Amino acid sequence: MPKILILFYSRTGNTEKMAKAVAEGASTVQGIEVELVYHAPPETLSYYDAILVGAPTYHHDLTIDIKRLFEEAAEKGIKLEGKIGAAFGSYGWSGEAPRLVLEIMKSKFEMNVSEPQLLVKYTPDQAALEKCRELGKRVAERLIHTA
Ligand SMILES: Cc1cc2nc3c(=O)[nH]c(=O)nc-3n(C[C@H](O)[C@H](O)[C@H](O)COP(=O)(O)O)c2cc1C
Repeated sequence: MPKILILFYSRTGNTEKMAKAVAEGASTVQGIEVELVYHAPPETLSYYDAILVGAPTYHHDLTIDIKRLFEEAAEKGIKLEGKIGAAFGSYGWSGEAPRLVLEIMKSKFEMNVSEPQLLVKYTPDQAALEKCRELGKRVAERLIHTA
């Protein structure tokens, strides 16, 4: 069964709300295993067919956990080539983090990224949560069709 990992970091809960909605959307598609986690050891990444990362922007950058995850995965030679990747996150004014995630996925890991990133200013409202659900559903449907 195709597997989706939704991995997020969130300090004040906004990206967490987005991540939960992405997982809800992905779970509406039959025949997909969806896992929502706050932390994943780098070795586990290769187990999934799609990796969706929820990354809030702090100081115009990714938070250290997400940076470290990708750095460790690269050091350990974890192969993610061809897997589907997507990124989303809450932000306040500049919102660089999800784009940085997509860059790493593309350039370092040769993943097949779904663009553009999904950005939500501060706390997601109902319309933003719906966009998150759509993102999860879209990736899940893409996996079903390529499985
Ligand atoms: C110390 C600090 C630094 C921040 N730096 C940025 C920034 O550089 N760019 C930006 O768009 N938002 C910035 N923000 C706003 C956060 O991205 C925003 O509050 C977001 O909703 C946090 O998501 P989270 O609740 O998932 O942690 C910053 C917030 C704090 C508290």
